[in-house]
Amino acid sequence: MTSEEIRQKFLAFFEKRGHKIIPSASLVPANDSSTLFTTAGMQPLVPYLMGQPHPQGTRLADCQKCVRTADIDDVGDNRHLTFFEMLGNWSFGDYFKKESIPWSFDFLISKEEGLGLDPNRFYMTVFVGDPPVGGGIPCDEESIKIWQEVFAKYGIEAKVAGEDAVVKDNVRIIPLGKEDNFWIAGETGPCGGDTEMFYDTDPAAGQPAGKFNDLVLSSRLIEIWNNVFMEFNKIANGKYEPLVKKNVDTGMGLERTTAVVNNHATVFDTDLFEPIMAKINELSKNDDERAKRIVADHIRSAVFMIADGVIPSNTDRGYILRRILRRAVRYTDVLGMAQDSLNQIAGVIINKYGDIYTNLKDNSSIIKNEISKEEKKFRETLEKGLREFEKGRDPFDLYQSFGFPIELAEELAKERGITIDRAKFEEAMKKHQELSKAGAEQKFKGGLGGDSEKIVKYHTATHLLQQALADVLGPSVAQKGSNITGERLRFDFAFDRKMTDEEKRKVEQIVNEKIGVNLPVNKVILPREEAEKTGARHLFGEKYGDQVSIYFIGDSLDNAYSKEFCGGPHVANTGVLGHFKISKEEAVAAGVRRIK
Ligand code: SER
Repeated sequence: MTSEEIRQKFLAFFEKRGHKIIPSASLVPANDSSTLFTTAGMQPLVPYLMGQPHPQGTRLADCQKCVRTADIDDVGDNRHLTFFEMLGNWSFGDYFKKESIPWSFDFLISKEEGLGLDPNRFYMTVFVGDPPVGGGIPCDEESIKIWQEVFAKYGIEAKVAGEDAVVKDNVRIIPLGKEDNFWIAGETGPCGGDTEMFYDTDPAAGQPAGKFNDLVLSSRLIEIWNNVFMEFNKIANGKYEPLVKKNVDTGMGLERTTAVVNNHATVFDTDLFEPIMAKINELSKNDDERAKRIVADHIRSAVFMIADGVIPSNTDRGYILRRILRRAVRYTDVLGMAQDSLNQIAGVIINKYGDIYTNLKDNSSIIKNEISKEEKKFRETLEKGLREFEKGRDPFDLYQSFGFPIELAEELAKERGITIDRAKFEEAMKKHQELSKAGAEQKFKGGLGGDSEKIVKYHTATHLLQQALADVLGPSVAQKGSNITGERLRFDFAFDRKMTDEEKRKVEQIVNEKIGVNLPVNKVILPREEAEKTGARHLFGEKYGDQVSIYFIGDSLDNAYSKEFCGGPHVANTGVLGHFKISKEEAVAAGVRRIK
């Protein structure tokens, strides 16, 4: 079965069950500053999972392109990828477990409507529960019962594993804890327990037996689908509130599923990679399989990123793309490929995917041009850097002076049997990261470049505004962006409707009251963990340094009216702020409001 048949079958299956098919969103998140790339199908749908009505209704299905770079070093094995497509079906306060689980199994097993997989080869995990979550979530007995009924339809007895999570006898259902079976994107937002479907890749070896996690690590069992039952909104560390409506978010990796359905040992053997690997084989001078897979994966990511408007640079998304492309160039060298080979492989990818993702074709010359340009730039850097590296120049210095990637210096050192002084290197890197972190915080906090008096005042007013909004509209109003100039304060936040006049008046009143009582503004610097415990507001998904500074408005950190992770600067006393007024409140995007 081809990947295209799987994609079509999936969408048709759910369309028949009342789902509207929506197109993939961009890899560049539209209104979500918490993540550089779309990493899951649910990400573009967060406002609807939070309760905002979706224009297409309460049941959706799609195939979403995703980028995840956290596991980049694992790429080259049988299943890790930095770019993948995720099939998903959604219920926004519509159906829940008792529809979702049987549908999933029907799709996996049915020969006519689905994938025709063998029910005997499935093992399912469920959430064992967690006392602190949302005031206590019990073990997901409901999903266990539904799975048992579903297996029973095929005459399969499905026993539940004990606390040891060992698969033996007729064990089919494995309850696992929060690290395995509780899903959230980033630090806060919609979340819930999940059930994951694993397929046995080697039935000839008899019934799988042993610790469940070992069976997964050895690739004997491979996860292909995850159904998340979203019931909570995580608002801060350890703090959950129930969502307005219960939702279902499922995600099935297209590459893995295609591999499993066709009994392929790796995702690189599927038709999704077939022409790409063929081209790589044609251009390679040796058989370094890992290098080939890395090139295939990385160039595929790069092509999709550029098509969605990302350009190689030294910051944020652009840096990730640069790193991926440069790593790909390195591995074309390992494979003995001629220069500019990536460009040719990109052409194959554009052809392979261009009918489904038409922006690949529309942007094909930009994509190829950016790839060639970056390769050229990198080769110049490499030449200079390599000469310096051979002379024994410090890798960190190389990074700073030539943009010579640290990862590459490490790989080169390894190849040459040189050991890099890790401690020294990491210390320099840490310092560097703290500096860029401070820069990023500044940028995020609204391009607070100059310390002009007006800007500092607006900055402190932003903290008061954010707390007042939370007081009036509820704790889920997360910051979505902020921009301050000498003329005005602009603040974007997650909220799904227009504020009423009464709400606006209340927010103004609270801020003006805090200004009126002349609250002191102070800063403390705390180790990150301790800082988090104070309940100070911070940006989810953001990685802070080991020491963070918290600005608090009030007499003490404990009884402060507002506390936020922030680099400052701020006024010393709210009394100097003058009068606060909302001049405008408008929508900037679905689920995001802007206040001036
Ligand atoms: N959000 C879940 C995941 O990405 C299911 O879609 O795995």
